[in-house]
Amino acid sequence: MLDHLKANNKAWAARKTAIDSDFFKRLERQQAPEYLWIGCADSRVPANEIVGLDPGELFVHRNVANLAPPQDANYLSVLQFAVDVLKVKHIMVVGHYGCGGVAAAVDGRRRGLVDHWLHPIREVHHDYREELERYPDERSRLNRLCELNVIRQVRNVASDVFLQEAWARGQEICVHGWVYSLSDGLVNDLNVTVCGPYDLIEPPSVG
Ligand code: CO
Repeated sequence: MLDHLKANNKAWAARKTAIDSDFFKRLERQQAPEYLWIGCADSRVPANEIVGLDPGELFVHRNVANLAPPQDANYLSVLQFAVDVLKVKHIMVVGHYGCGGVAAAVDGRRRGLVDHWLHPIREVHHDYREELERYPDERSRLNRLCELNVIRQVRNVASDVFLQEAWARGQEICVHGWVYSLSDGLVNDLNVTVCGPYDLIEPPSVG
């Protein structure tokens, strides 16, 4: 079963060691990534590949619609480990245009458990409904909602006690908001970077 994947794996490991014979030995001894990626689980958004980073260079947390809910033990465990133990320098919350999770949050259809998971996006949608209504079509409205969702998650991460404590003890760490485009493979930096407790972003102004 899955023989093609096992063959791919063997070839990949061989390529890595051909270029750098100590590659895996080094990784085994130490994990020291400078970045934490919080992204969507979507298979078209492969974290390491998009930013050209090797194993060991990017700590990754992915879930449906790249959420950072302050009550989610999975995300919080990743965040604390990244900040307190790995001491990452940058955290990127990375959404993507055309996100099915974001669309599903606001299409009014019932799906079950995932409706609860996506609830924070409906809150963002509600908070910015006046701005969103001005977009001419559904597609651009949803893409803006993808951006607004990322901005909200950046705020969640930056206002978390783990970040506040890290900044209080002088640790240098920045939280960034990006949106990835499936159509051209490029990342759009939303310029909502937070690098300290005193510039917590305000919600973007309407319009
Ligand atoms: Co998505």
